[in-house]
Amino acid sequence: MCGIVGYLGSGSAVPVLVSELRSLEYRGYDSAGLAVIEDGNLRILKAAGKLSNLEHILKEQAPIATVGIGHTRWATHGEPTDRNAHPHTDEAKVVAVVHNGIIENYRELKDELLKKDYKFGSDTDTEVVAHLVSYYYKQNKDMLNAVRQAVSRLQGIYALAILSPAYPDRIFAVNHHYSLTVGLGENESFLASDGLAVRPYTNQLLRLEQSEIVELSSSGYKLYSFEGKEVKRSPITSEGSLYIIDKGGYKHFLLKEINEQPTVLRQTLAKYLPDTHKPVNLKKENKGLVNGLHTAGITLTKEQIKNIDRIQIVACGTALYSGMVGKYIIEALAQIPTEVEIASEIRGRKLLVNERTLTIAVSQSGETADTLAAIKEAKEAGSHTLGITNRPDSHLAHITTDLITTECGIEVSVASTKTYIAQLASFYLLGIYLAEEKGLLSPQKSAELKHQLHLIPTWQEKILSSSEDIRQAALKYSSAKDVVFMGRGFNYPTALEGALKLKELTYIHASGYAAGELKHGPIAVLDENVPVVTILVPGVVYEKTLSNALESKARQAKMIAVAVEDDKNVDSIFDTIMRIPTVDEFLSPLLTVIPLQLFAYFTAEALGKDVDQPRNLAKSVTVE
Ligand code: F6R
Repeated sequence: MCGIVGYLGSGSAVPVLVSELRSLEYRGYDSAGLAVIEDGNLRILKAAGKLSNLEHILKEQAPIATVGIGHTRWATHGEPTDRNAHPHTDEAKVVAVVHNGIIENYRELKDELLKKDYKFGSDTDTEVVAHLVSYYYKQNKDMLNAVRQAVSRLQGIYALAILSPAYPDRIFAVNHHYSLTVGLGENESFLASDGLAVRPYTNQLLRLEQSEIVELSSSGYKLYSFEGKEVKRSPITSEGSLYIIDKGGYKHFLLKEINEQPTVLRQTLAKYLPDTHKPVNLKKENKGLVNGLHTAGITLTKEQIKNIDRIQIVACGTALYSGMVGKYIIEALAQIPTEVEIASEIRGRKLLVNERTLTIAVSQSGETADTLAAIKEAKEAGSHTLGITNRPDSHLAHITTDLITTECGIEVSVASTKTYIAQLASFYLLGIYLAEEKGLLSPQKSAELKHQLHLIPTWQEKILSSSEDIRQAALKYSSAKDVVFMGRGFNYPTALEGALKLKELTYIHASGYAAGELKHGPIAVLDENVPVVTILVPGVVYEKTLSNALESKARQAKMIAVAVEDDKNVDSIFDTIMRIPTVDEFLSPLLTVIPLQLFAYFTAEALGKDVDQPRNLAKSVTVE
């Protein structure tokens, strides 16, 4: 969470820093700030709220500088106010610091510094770093040393950028189990938490490894380990094209991304399933260059697959729900017992995996701290690891043995939509692949499944063409205070995802349930004010789900269904029906979620919410 940036060169620093920050706003938008060196002094400008607030200040005060660092914040320690906005500095303004992550031992360090008479002006953990660097700098007047000494005192995972008027031609940056990329141009250097922010300026990228310090100048860089040893590593040339960030005529990125789902699915299928009659093509031999950075397919051999007796999926949020559908798919097709864990729940426990386990981490960003921690633990325990991510340049992509990259392009809106569909597609492909390798899928069945998968994008387009009906439905229920979503089997995760989308976009309380669980407690919340959304598709759990819906109707709940076109049973039971093309439950999650995404979007729009950047959220959750 939070984004840090830097620029150093002969050009004007402020426009570059602002443009880098714009690319990183997805990491948090509680405040934004810059520190530059102007006329030999540190100048700090910052404002609570979105980057646009800082831009207003910059227009009026226009600092002139060729070096600076910047920050966009997702608040962890201290409210999202001006005083807590980064950069933070020490009293003597020896340094300015911007920071991602959490300094876990900041209280202890703060007490120590308070005893030395240091004064604090914010509630952040970051300020401790500014004072600490300044403290060590005063002792030996060597900034690199001071940074190293300060870092040796910090606990937690973090990235830092440090600017000092004593070194007007340097930026010092630290990476400790985080993500930080240096960009090298001609007599100018860039720094950002995500390579995509520096990519418009240069394709020479150096990704910092864990526990490294970089001293940046306009002509290059020096890299050091935390122990002070110089590390020799050259930048790589990023071959990928730039991500284009554009609303494409839509009112919001979210609506654009919902509408891109058929294309995303087609692209993912075209990449891994180019021909419906050939075996699924996920082999490492087919590794290619996606967006210019390394990506690999599945390296597991037939023999290794036979030896896998368990699959462990780890993820958070929407990615977790795709993993839950993944469990149903893999168990149905490949008959491998599969468990799904909330990645943050693995902390403090031992992940019981071994060389006979395949651990799959799903993460759109590939930077989610809890998911990364879980997959690292699995790797250490000897498990085979597979990442499913939309970012082939991410931390996750680098540390997993095997990789499936979803073909979504950049997802700008904070709420995930198209990447969820692509994650689901990855699980269908993986399930088919594992089942084929285990000899569990006849060629006819396999061909039929692949054929069906290719039909889904057209069916998704049909749902999208009925957006106006869904908008009308959303308007009817937009005053609800509490909404219940339920589904069974393949659509239990869809219910969870539908509830999550509504909550995060509209701030209306919503819960998703396995339909059979409602009667075990949650049904107590139902009355005539509570809309209940039931996901009903043909399959083995259809009748039971319908019974659960009737139980809700008996409690006077407002009845909404996501149902297939041919289903006539629903007409007399539900007040509102969002129709989808007739599909079997097995592939239905690729369709049923779309009306729920649109329902949440239109409700949020009707309520005037900030659809693309809902309050309190960030797209990349890099704190634990
Ligand atoms: C919800 C949403 C989040 C993410 C979660 C994991 O719309 O986007 O729940 O799914 O924060 O993020 P990644 O997939 O980047 O690991």
